[in-house]
Amino acid sequence: MIEFQRKFYKDDDLPFLWHYMLEIDSISQKPIPLTEPQNFQPLSPETLFEEKNADKLVLEIGSGKGAFLRQYAQKFPQSCILGTEWDLFCANLTARKLKKLGLKNVAVMRGDLFYFLRDLMPSNSIDEVHMYFPDPWPKRRQQKNRLILREGFLEQIYRVLKLGQKFFYWATDHEEYNILALKTFRNFPNAKILEENTAQPTAGIETGFEKKYKKEGRKIYRSIIELRVDECTNTAE
Ligand SMILES: C[S@@+](CC[C@H](N)C(=O)[O-])C[C@H]1O[C@@H](n2cnc3c(N)ncnc32)[C@H](O)[C@@H]1O
Repeated sequence: MIEFQRKFYKDDDLPFLWHYMLEIDSISQKPIPLTEPQNFQPLSPETLFEEKNADKLVLEIGSGKGAFLRQYAQKFPQSCILGTEWDLFCANLTARKLKKLGLKNVAVMRGDLFYFLRDLMPSNSIDEVHMYFPDPWPKRRQQKNRLILREGFLEQIYRVLKLGQKFFYWATDHEEYNILALKTFRNFPNAKILEENTAQPTAGIETGFEKKYKKEGRKIYRSIIELRVDECTNTAE
């Protein structure tokens, strides 16, 4: 697979909005292919936040317009939560709302979460992961975009989690993606589904899509997956 040059940078205007994006060639306006591996230094997660003394680092995958992120940050001031979102409009909107609220324990990374984890996130750094209503990519040719099923995705999640008993919180309205995602977790060493399709909204917080889908009367599948991370299996660099 062709790889492209990427860069990580802070937003010029909004505090605690970060971007991890493809470098675009100024003449061709196309992404620049990599000729040799880019050797990034893993970042220090506390540099992403204004709060420097958090007890926990929490990751939300696909934070959308930021409803869960905002409420989680307000409910748990001792935790820092990083939202990740590849849509610029959503990431900007979230960062603007967060700025208004003056929260110090939350940040947003705009870019593809998979490459952000792979290239920049240090091993053994995250306490819990939330992923709610990911894009289902229903058409056959789009299904390769389903994050949970992407080759190496769960390995990256496992690598960045801190040692011990950790949790992955998952919800979707899409039955087929749900079945495949739970199967992927079941087949992953050191993962165990603790609550299967019956979990309640985490800390009572409903996400933006959850509210919309509940109004439409759709069935929601919510699960909690335990990941037991130990030194022998976590290949920290
Ligand atoms: C259907 S929305 C759900 C938003 C929110 N979690 C909620 O429940 O309201 C899924 C979001 O995931 C984002 N997303 C999809 N793939 C992504 C990726 N690889 N990296 C970062 N964000 C991604 C999309 O842009 C979209 O905003």
